Amino acid sequence: MNRRMAAVNILEDREALAQWVAENRRAGRSVGFVPTMGALHAGHVSLFQTARQECDRVIGSIFVNPTQFGPNEDFQRYPRTLEADRILLEGAGCDALFLPAVDLIYPPGHQTVVRVGAVAEGLCGACRPGHFQGVATVVAILFNRVAPQRAYFGLKDYQQFLVIRQMVRDLGLAVAVVGLPTVREADGLAMSSRNRYLTPADRHQSLALYRAMTAAQAVYADGQRDPTRLEETAREVLTGAGIDRIDYVAVRDRETLAPLTRIETDPVLLLAVHVGVARLIDNRILQSEL
Ligand code: PAF
Repeated sequence: MNRRMAAVNILEDREALAQWVAENRRAGRSVGFVPTMGALHAGHVSLFQTARQECDRVIGSIFVNPTQFGPNEDFQRYPRTLEADRILLEGAGCDALFLPAVDLIYPPGHQTVVRVGAVAEGLCGACRPGHFQGVATVVAILFNRVAPQRAYFGLKDYQQFLVIRQMVRDLGLAVAVVGLPTVREADGLAMSSRNRYLTPADRHQSLALYRAMTAAQAVYADGQRDPTRLEETAREVLTGAGIDRIDYVAVRDRETLAPLTRIETDPVLLLAVHVGVARLIDNRILQSEL
């Protein structure tokens, strides 16, 4: 059978995963890991495909992590599409899929959390208290169980990527954290599991995120280096499209996410807005030369 269409080995319990990990270790195979919450799309597929190219074995996980959702967020209605996900993974070169139940990740009596400092505190960290603590904790637990050499994350969740990279550095974890470019629809909308929440009118309105980033990029390429002016340019596009719930529009240092008074190296522009019932995020590294 063509290996890329081989059935995905579903691992639901601790022992099955431990055995898979041990077999690969004994055979000296490198393992690439793609942690997800399911509702997979082309952005996830690109992570699996890159892992496939770079590692001997590829494992994904699907776990809708309760600790990274706030009390009024979408944990209950987060899309759960396991059968479609499994089919998609078969075509994406995934060897094994870890599908833990909540009490495998957080056994009764669980007390330990991972809290990353400054890089996790502003932006989504400020708008979604506890979110990055939930993300860092679950990713640390998953890394510990899966023991991958490399782990793959989409740069659409730019702050999440920096938070995980920081955690890995600070805890001295032996895993390379790889960030891969955002995959977009033909019209520029970043792929996201939450795009399923958009009505046709919302979908149309959500294109303003891409336009806002493009407008800021154009002004930046023309020489504008005042972060506030760049943020205003993006914000005007969003409000002009009728988006009135804006969590943030921020131009930040691309490595630390620290606020900037003067721009000396190309920064990152980050956006978080609400469109209909969906909270959408996106970002773009502004480039002085395209
Ligand atoms: O990006 C996600 O899907 C999640 O935040 C992650 C990294 C799988 C942790 O639950």
